[in-house]
Amino acid sequence: MLSARQIIALVTAAFLTTSAIAAGGADYPPSNIDRDNIQSLQRGAANFMNYCSGCHSAEYVRYNTIGKHLELSEQQLIDNLMFNAEKTFETINVNMPMDDAVTWFGAAPPDLTLTARSKSADYIYNFLKGFYIDEEQTHGVNNRWLAGTSMPHVLGELQGYQRAVYDEKVGEDGSVTRTFVEFEQAIPGQLDPEAYDEFVRDTTNFLAYIAEPVRSERRKLGVWVIMFLTLFGILAYMLKKEIWKDVK
Ligand code: HEC
Repeated sequence: MLSARQIIALVTAAFLTTSAIAAGGADYPPSNIDRDNIQSLQRGAANFMNYCSGCHSAEYVRYNTIGKHLELSEQQLIDNLMFNAEKTFETINVNMPMDDAVTWFGAAPPDLTLTARSKSADYIYNFLKGFYIDEEQTHGVNNRWLAGTSMPHVLGELQGYQRAVYDEKVGEDGSVTRTFVEFEQAIPGQLDPEAYDEFVRDTTNFLAYIAEPVRSERRKLGVWVIMFLTLFGILAYMLKKEIWKDVK
């Protein structure tokens, strides 16, 4: 039989493993998004509609859900976010036919509703900061996190363009190994690096939100469930003691 201590250790280990798996994407520098920051989410929504929704849909989230969680009135929704839609119960669609997209870009822009879950928010944040000049590519840019990407640097006006700096080592056999060191700004953009960072963080925050719109409600519920289970566990234990106390 397992002792109580062993059981607790097992349960804790299982819990830590699942949360580590759920957190995922630990290889990327952190995005530090704050999912409870409504202003950041509102700015992110506007960024997404202005700079991304021309190519990317978010077909699993409705405008009125966004409006409710982001504390926006129906008029604010219509004026600031609903460029491709007429009714607030519609989802975020793209007008561009996907066949054309493949011809123009070489790949269809994926739906972004769940990308923050499939690839992690940290990935998106770094992806948007990872474009650098590469004349050999079709769009004149490459991406540090998705080599040879078909997505143009759509935020180039805001961020400007950066160059990748490499450390080159020549091995004994004459082969060259290049390791990435850092980005250096080659052409300045409209935003300074800090402001661009905020822009990308807000946009990422919004994408993390649409990937899990009921997250905050679920977490509140989770606390009650844990409290119930703990209380129930104590009661069950006391009951067991009571029933078995005369049987030895
Ligand atoms: C001009 C069209 C266009 C616009 C605008 C655009 N994208 Fe993309 N995006 C693409 C294409 C094409 C791909 C597919 C890239 C590939 O597979 O190489 C893509 C892929 C992506 C991916 C997936 C990367 C991966 O690892 O699979 C993310 C995330 C993304 N875009 C985010 C954004 C965000 C955020 C914006 C707005 C700031 C945006 N995109 C604006 C065309 C666009």
